[in-house]
Amino acid sequence: MRFTYRCADCGTRYDTDEIMYRCPACDFPTSGDFQRGNLIVDLNHEDLKELSTREHITPQDFFPYEIPTPEAYPVGNTPLATSPRLSKTYGIKNLRFKLDGQNPSGSFKDRASQLIAAQALSKGENKVVLASTGNAGSAMACAGAAYGLEIVLFVPASAPVNKLMQSVLYGAHVIPVNGTYDDAFALSIAYSQEYGGINRNTAYNPMTIEGKKSISIELFEQMGRKLPDVVYVPVGDGVIISGVYKGFYDLMAAGITDKVPALVCVQSSGSDAISRAWESGDYKVLEKATTTADSISVSSPANGRMAVEYIKSSKGWSTIINDDDISEAQLELARDSGLFAEPAAAAAWAGVIADKETIIERFGEEAEVLVLLTGTGFKDMKSFDGKVSIPPSIEPDIDAMRTYMNK
Ligand SMILES: Cc1ncc(COP(=O)(O)O)c(C=O)c1O
Repeated sequence: MRFTYRCADCGTRYDTDEIMYRCPACDFPTSGDFQRGNLIVDLNHEDLKELSTREHITPQDFFPYEIPTPEAYPVGNTPLATSPRLSKTYGIKNLRFKLDGQNPSGSFKDRASQLIAAQALSKGENKVVLASTGNAGSAMACAGAAYGLEIVLFVPASAPVNKLMQSVLYGAHVIPVNGTYDDAFALSIAYSQEYGGINRNTAYNPMTIEGKKSISIELFEQMGRKLPDVVYVPVGDGVIISGVYKGFYDLMAAGITDKVPALVCVQSSGSDAISRAWESGDYKVLEKATTTADSISVSSPANGRMAVEYIKSSKGWSTIINDDDISEAQLELARDSGLFAEPAAAAAWAGVIADKETIIERFGEEAEVLVLLTGTGFKDMKSFDGKVSIPPSIEPDIDAMRTYMNK
């Protein structure tokens, strides 16, 4: 589909289908404030309108690049689970979980990597460069393995081992950096300027937001061409929540729906820069993010301004929980519904628990609530250390069994 780029901050439009990263007019260093100059991909209105008469649509109908052999990297179409037990416990009848941990590399980030791979292939570019603390890196490495692209991945040397190991296994060129994510980010850009390749850094390449919108279009079809009332999203940089908004927005722009559901930004109290900005209008970065949910630990949100704008425009809000709530939510999801989510993903469920009265007040007893479980629990088994343990073994005889039973 045809598109132009538009700056989310100054509104300048760029009518080109060349690769663009940030608005040249706004891309200057800011001290202590959220960065400016993130670009929005605006789809051509005529092309969009053509979709309104279709009986069924797919996310790919709304993409600026065609996805080559989608079955080679089968992203999306993730299951929508209910939980009769949790519904009963919390009095939320119409509760659904979107299991995005079932994407090929185990997280929502495959959605962005799918479109970046399509962008690279359509431009005849064989190398993709990025910085990541985990899921984005493993997703891009997975896409690279599927399509035969060279992936150069800069990671802070302290990143979680499981996610790094995954990227190494997929055959990416992994470069651990002695520094923070910001250091790895800066080095990845310097690298791509000197040695070439498309840069996939989250929020830096606007196609990361565009790729993530697939979830909303898919969800609309999956729910029988209906929208939920409210969507709970775990937030760090604010890219996922912006992608979710963009998908609902494009459906509306095509004349297929007439609203964007309320989007709830869930953050940990140790990493709440976007929530603070939503509340105060003050776009200050944090000195340090401290949550144990590594995927949403962000001090300077790369897409913070756009995320705040979209939360407001959806008539959503922000809910802050703490790390203990996240941990409890993660255990409860597994124990009481069989859903295994990494800590960042479980944060979205912790947000629903915190808001259960508000949800019913705002949307009534029939509220349709959607929780995005953005990554699988297998990604971070270390997060269970000290919380759950495997029971000691017994001898394989009935006497040992009797002793065990009499304990
Ligand atoms: C599993 C998971 N959930 C949520 C997020 C937060 O997304 P964003 O940083 O775009 O807000 C991430 C980002 O890495 C993630 O990996």
